[in-house]
Amino acid sequence: MDQNLASQLKSIEDKVASELKQCSDLDALQKIKAYFLGRKKGKLTQLIKLIPSLSINERKILGPKINQTKNKLLTLFQEKEKAFASSNVKSFFDPTLPGEKPIYGHLHPITQVCYEAEDIFEKMGFEIVEPFEIDDDFHVFETLNIPQGHPARDMWDTFWTENNFIPITHTSAMQNRILKSVKPPIRAIVPGRCFRHEATDARHEHTFYQIEGVYVDQNISLADLLGTLLSFLEAFFQQKLKYKIQPSYFPFVEPGLEFLISCVICKGRGCATCGHSGWLELIPCGPIHPNVLKMGGVNPEKYSGFAWGMGLDRLVMLRFAIEDIRLFHSGNLRFLEQF
Ligand code: DAH
Repeated sequence: MDQNLASQLKSIEDKVASELKQCSDLDALQKIKAYFLGRKKGKLTQLIKLIPSLSINERKILGPKINQTKNKLLTLFQEKEKAFASSNVKSFFDPTLPGEKPIYGHLHPITQVCYEAEDIFEKMGFEIVEPFEIDDDFHVFETLNIPQGHPARDMWDTFWTENNFIPITHTSAMQNRILKSVKPPIRAIVPGRCFRHEATDARHEHTFYQIEGVYVDQNISLADLLGTLLSFLEAFFQQKLKYKIQPSYFPFVEPGLEFLISCVICKGRGCATCGHSGWLELIPCGPIHPNVLKMGGVNPEKYSGFAWGMGLDRLVMLRFAIEDIRLFHSGNLRFLEQF
């Protein structure tokens, strides 16, 4: 038995050594390893399994021998594995396999839609102006024909810093700087983040986005305003739209208007998005008030213009059928990864 087992061990060692010599890739190596050391049927494993059935004396002699062989084999396999790893053997790196896609982040849906809107307005000849995120009372209210104590200030109730600066409540705060900075014709848009003291719900957030527009030239009429907004919205929604206007009130335009379009979801038939009216109230706007032009150094006798302040979040919600504005700042990846 002793002799017999010793020769079996020897023959296993020899076989492994010779097979490893010919082995040229990792797959083949794994197969050889399984053949000799596999948990159930490995050639050496079967001998190891015999140990408990041996007498104590046999066990004392044969046990260590079998173990020695096992360790020898393990060393041989390890060496071969190392050799493969360091010699760039084909099985470690197959250049013909398709690459693994890295996980990239992407632009927030609001940014995506903002860039899209900017592109359309740029093609229409508008320049892009960035607003200040914190501004003063003069620009946020005074220059927009909303003096101290004016009741309309309540509409833009917002946060104030301790030294009387305001996280801007609307992008209109840039109007005065735009009017002062260039001579008409003026065509500018101001995409920016706004802040309001707001009780939030599915349609209202304390932090949201607007795209302000300012257009000043000679002989500008309401028709120019309507044509500009309609052209933008038809390009943005890629469909013909019906529109209408209705009166509203903003101290910096006269008259104040709301620009409505036929609902882009139900095509005017009536659905939950348009409150079953068939219309979407989309863009507050109007001809610029003469006082605002004057404060911007523009002569209202010679020039006229129009302005608007559209809610960017609303455009994004319509584009992607998003029902709750609060998702935008939720940091919820399951939401964000859909865009
Ligand atoms: N600033 C207004 C708001 O935040 C929106 C607005 C209305 C802007 C009419 C305008 C405008 O330029 O003409 O509610």
